[in-house]
Amino acid sequence: MALRLGDEAPNFTAETTEGTINFYDYLGDSWGILFSHPKDFTPVCTTELGEVAKLKPEFDKRNVKVLGLSVDELGNHKGWANDIEETQGAKLNFPLISDADHKVSDLYDMIHPNANDTLTVRSVFIIGPDKKVKLIITYPASTGRNFDEILRVIDSLQLTANYSVATPVNWKDGDDVIIAGAVSDEDAKTKFPKGWKAPKPYLRITPQPNK
Ligand code: BEZ
Repeated sequence: MALRLGDEAPNFTAETTEGTINFYDYLGDSWGILFSHPKDFTPVCTTELGEVAKLKPEFDKRNVKVLGLSVDELGNHKGWANDIEETQGAKLNFPLISDADHKVSDLYDMIHPNANDTLTVRSVFIIGPDKKVKLIITYPASTGRNFDEILRVIDSLQLTANYSVATPVNWKDGDDVIIAGAVSDEDAKTKFPKGWKAPKPYLRITPQPNK
């Protein structure tokens, strides 16, 4: 069955551009992002991998380990890495799984046969330090992902893991947040000493607590 939010992320061992990796060992106590690409030497994927390489310091800052996947052989990945550096101006600085036997793709349901029965779609999985799946996004091969959005979601996931809040539409780090419904007004007074506005009893807006 396909993975769902809150499920335990399956562990695996895989060949990557940085050697053999055991997923759980690679993650350690960090957050993780596992994302798939349909195929090596394809244009949209080339731009995505260049962008993730440029954003690597942002993932590091958030304690997120980055792991990509494509269903081609390791030799192809290495040749493709040169193209990525040449055309995107960024060197591949995170491991890329070679999943020619579809072991990891099948484990994470990254092949959607009605889209293409051999290539992975553009899947994104965010894994928490507890190894639970926190986010799943699936894009078709023809649409490159927005990794700024993925960083934004990681900011929200990390904030809401630590504080009793939710983040509203288009929220970004530093914006006001919403006090979780489970928190009574009485408890909110101690949890959110900066106070809140409540245009409705169920909509309590407070400054981001860790800023
Ligand atoms: C691409 O990355 O450009 C791509 C890959 C597979 C199918 C379509 C586009």
